[in-house]
Amino acid sequence: MWKFWLATLVGVGHASQTVLRPEPVASNFTTFQSRNSPHSVRIRQQNESICTAGSAQYTGWLDIGPKHLFFWYFESQNDPAADPLTLWMNGGPGGSSLLGLFQENGPCLINEHGNGTVHNPWGWSRNSSLLFVDQPADVGWSYIDEGYEVARDSQEAAVDMHRFLQIFVSEIFPHKRFSDLHISGESYAGKYIPYLGAHIVTHNQQYPSEPQINLKSCLVGNGFMSSKDIVFGYWETLCTTNPGVSTPVFNETRCDIIAANMPRCMELYDTCAGNPDVAICDAAYAVCYKGIVGLYEDESKKGGRNRFDITAPCYIDDICYKEAAYIEQYLNSPVVREALSPPEGVKEYGLESSAVVDAFATTPETMTSSSDHIIFLLSHGVDFLAYQGNLDLACNTAGNLRWANSLAWKGQSEFTSKSLLPWTSNVVGRIETVGNAKEVRVQLDGLAKKSRFAFVTVDGAGHMVPQDRADVAFDILARWIAGDSFA
Ligand SMILES: *[C@@H]1O[C@H](CO)[C@@H](O)[C@H](O)[C@H]1NC(C)=O
Ligand SMILES: *[C@@H]1O[C@H](CO)[C@@H](O)[C@H](O)[C@H]1NC(C)=O
Ligand SMILES: *[C@@H]1O[C@H](CO)[C@@H](O)[C@H](O)[C@H]1NC(C)=O
Ligand SMILES: *[C@@H]1O[C@H](CO)[C@@H](O)[C@H](O)[C@H]1NC(C)=O
Ligand SMILES: *[C@@H]1O[C@H](CO)[C@@H](O)[C@H](O)[C@H]1NC(C)=O
Repeated sequence: MWKFWLATLVGVGHASQTVLRPEPVASNFTTFQSRNSPHSVRIRQQNESICTAGSAQYTGWLDIGPKHLFFWYFESQNDPAADPLTLWMNGGPGGSSLLGLFQENGPCLINEHGNGTVHNPWGWSRNSSLLFVDQPADVGWSYIDEGYEVARDSQEAAVDMHRFLQIFVSEIFPHKRFSDLHISGESYAGKYIPYLGAHIVTHNQQYPSEPQINLKSCLVGNGFMSSKDIVFGYWETLCTTNPGVSTPVFNETRCDIIAANMPRCMELYDTCAGNPDVAICDAAYAVCYKGIVGLYEDESKKGGRNRFDITAPCYIDDICYKEAAYIEQYLNSPVVREALSPPEGVKEYGLESSAVVDAFATTPETMTSSSDHIIFLLSHGVDFLAYQGNLDLACNTAGNLRWANSLAWKGQSEFTSKSLLPWTSNVVGRIETVGNAKEVRVQLDGLAKKSRFAFVTVDGAGHMVPQDRADVAFDILARWIAGDSFA
């Protein structure tokens, strides 16, 4: 944790009952006090010099007591008034969403020198307003006052993110109040998103007089919904050609070890699920790590294997991708720091918060699944899409398909009865088979519309689908928010 006390002073003396809109070319923060809560927001408009976005962009912090959540918001390049709002969160836990912005689906991507950006023609702000938030507090450019605890699980994180969204759509950008909201993200966001979505639905119902969040759908790329299923998927991913490789990654010796250890590992996962105590779940994971996960993971480092793409090299420790180092370098450069203007004393930008990693490690959440929350969302008419880069190991397709088939809701029978079928994308001006898909639309009791559940894969892409297949990832988002099918 870092040392900083002054953050809340920034907003003092600027209390206002009016909704303030940022000036067209603001060089300073517009600070205002929320009308519905004791929270304040600092926001400033940015120009193309630090991000070649092609539409209006704003950065700032939402101050929720001792927590200060950083955001970077892009208006839709198409029709900001009519297009929906899409929130993007990276995973971890503890990972900064600016990785997604600058390496995956933002309208500007880090350049090859780490000293500027290039416009991304497939940025997700093409047909939707797009909001990146560093969360929970302490992640990325977000920070937390000294002496306060960071979030320990996705439920705590969801409470703050819900507050954030309420203020964002009702007070900062009130024209977004009635826009459809889609919550997107990747990896550990397979936990963040269902928890946040369920919290939104519940809160909307319990507090009808508060600003309502118009949540329409959730979409998760290579999500960590269920650790158990993902570990089960290790054998298929490493020991067959199913991910789209010409020969399996592991030889028979290693595959035998994995296969032999799988039944006990699965049983221990069930023990953890039945007794979700962190000591029990850690012990379960230790067995699975030693007998399965570690065989690959221990070799996943600079110069070794890449857990996010079984065919790709690993250039830097942990995250493997060179771009990640460039992003840290860029966001800590004087020109960007000056443009974002974090308060004095805020620590350097880092892609991962070790405080959040450590805090989440004190709960069993990583070992349990977010299925109940997703079933809850579907039963309240919130659509759910899981899309998958097939070369990923960390949140592999084999495991997530097993998870999707096992989701116990009214649509399960129909969903499992369907085969994955090739789907084609024509975004690059030609029709190309880019992966497989299946989906169901099911009428649930008391709902005005059918709930949609879809599973979509992308060949030749790893964990970061928008980085590996920017055109296809954009097509997935565009079809999903338009309600078009994958066929
Ligand atoms: C705010 O803007 C004014 C004029 O636009 C400028 O003089 C001042 O230095 C700015 N303050 C900060 C903190 O950027
Ligand atoms: C997406 O935006 C482009 C302009 O950037 C526009 O031509 C197109 O019609 C939009 N598509 C949808 C589905 O709104
Ligand atoms: C970025 O670095 C490259 C290579 O060193 C240099 O040519 C370019 O001028 C730099 N750009 C900026 C904006 O500093
Ligand atoms: C199997 O792969 C491992 C790791 O690459 C290697 O150490 C081992 O020698 C291989 N075994 C055989 C029989 O090829
Ligand atoms: C863009 O913003 C930077 C600060 O973030 C400022 O120094 C620069 O003058 C601005 N450029 C234009 C064209 O407004």
